[in-house]
Amino acid sequence: MDTPVGHGSRIASRPSQTDIDEREFRRTLGQFCTGVAVITTVDGEPVGFTCQSLTSLSLDPPLVTFAVANGSRSLPRLLRTGVFSANVLCADQEPLGRRFGAPHPDRFAGVDWLPAPVTGTPQLAGALAWVEALVSDAVPAGDHTIVIGRVVGVRRGGGDPLLYFGGEFRVGGVGSTQ
Ligand SMILES: Cc1cc2nc3c(=O)[nH]c(=O)nc-3n(C[C@H](O)[C@H](O)[C@H](O)COP(=O)(O)O)c2cc1C
Repeated sequence: MDTPVGHGSRIASRPSQTDIDEREFRRTLGQFCTGVAVITTVDGEPVGFTCQSLTSLSLDPPLVTFAVANGSRSLPRLLRTGVFSANVLCADQEPLGRRFGAPHPDRFAGVDWLPAPVTGTPQLAGALAWVEALVSDAVPAGDHTIVIGRVVGVRRGGGDPLLYFGGEFRVGGVGSTQ
């Protein structure tokens, strides 16, 4: 009998039912349009990477989550510091999305940022929104780790969002909010 999915069930322990082609899986989920964030921390120096898996998880308590590839160099540093900021990028910040999403000798070179009020983690100038959080859990899931953060500060800017769709950056004509 199948184990019902619910609290405490471990997907990893269930037998896989079908073989899904990895490329097709990527392309299919690429149809899910997301915003783009840069997750940052300070581990002796500022650290950050581009992330599309950011989402709100809970209102009470306020939690956010994102998934980090296990091979990411930022992951052990994030878990060591236990704090992060999520910087939601504006339409005109595509260069930052690219820079923080690929190997780069110094991602923060020439980038304007301020330390977040509570955690001191980098908040990039001109972003659409900033969330700072304390890492409350890190859950292994396949080749990624799901990081859960307890939100300790939020701040909003204005403008159009930077989007990611079909494996490409897009600019959203969705109207600005303030
Ligand atoms: C638009 C975009 C979204 C991304 N989203 C994620 C993500 O959600 N999780 C992740 O682990 N990597 C994501 N990446 C890839 C990382 O940003 C990239 O592998 C980066 O080089 C990791 O840096 P690090 O090894 O210094 O941590 C994304 C890249 C791009 C361009």
